[in-house]
Amino acid sequence: MDRSPGFWNLLAKRYSRQPIADETAYQMKLAKTQTRFKPDMQVLEIGCGTGSTAIVHAPHVQHIRAVDYSKNMIAIARQRAAEAGVTNIDFEVQGIDAMAAEADTYDAVLALNILHLVDDHHDTLAKIHRLLRPGGLFVSSTVCLGDISKAAQPLLRAGSALRVLPLLRFFSADQWVGDVTAAGFSIEDEWRSPTSPSIFLIAKKASAAG
Ligand SMILES: C[S@@+](CC[C@H](N)C(=O)[O-])C[C@H]1O[C@@H](n2cnc3c(N)ncnc32)[C@H](O)[C@@H]1O
Repeated sequence: MDRSPGFWNLLAKRYSRQPIADETAYQMKLAKTQTRFKPDMQVLEIGCGTGSTAIVHAPHVQHIRAVDYSKNMIAIARQRAAEAGVTNIDFEVQGIDAMAAEADTYDAVLALNILHLVDDHHDTLAKIHRLLRPGGLFVSSTVCLGDISKAAQPLLRAGSALRVLPLLRFFSADQWVGDVTAAGFSIEDEWRSPTSPSIFLIAKKASAAG
């Protein structure tokens, strides 16, 4: 069940002005992703926020469908894409659970800083796997709150329970890698941040030939 679009609607303007926490890591992830892109690729980004990453990737692929359940995030994303003259992204106000899509549709699915926020990431992983074509890529950057200090966790859990914070899920990077693998992906590239509880993965759905 999509619980927290209101939180992200309120935050959208401030979020759009926030500098990237680790610019070097961000550029490295963009570069790793773009080496996998091809000009004819159909890409889906879930939880695209203000669209910045989709806009950077757009010239490297044929089309990006970028969805986010916050209408204010999507309004900013549309404005940014128009200002950048980018025309091959369709931004949609859409929750991941409700999002309709055919199986075997996308060459790549991006999920950046989102999968610790969904109700059941196992369901979302299964959906991503279904939507990808055989051989398709799943690119994720995921906050692993199970790896933050045990002292900090209760505060976040309480904030989430009281709805001052969005829905938050707590799992470790090791659990995350296990869950992605169990969902049917093989991990091709893994990078763990030395400064934050974040893990970047490029994973692949098996190709038709296996
Ligand atoms: C932390 S922000 C990350 C935004 C962007 N991917 C980035 O890396 O800057 C999380 C985004 O996910 C969106 N989101 C969270 N849960 C969602 C859901 N179930 N369906 C669609 N969007 C969701 C929020 O509205 C928010 O824009």
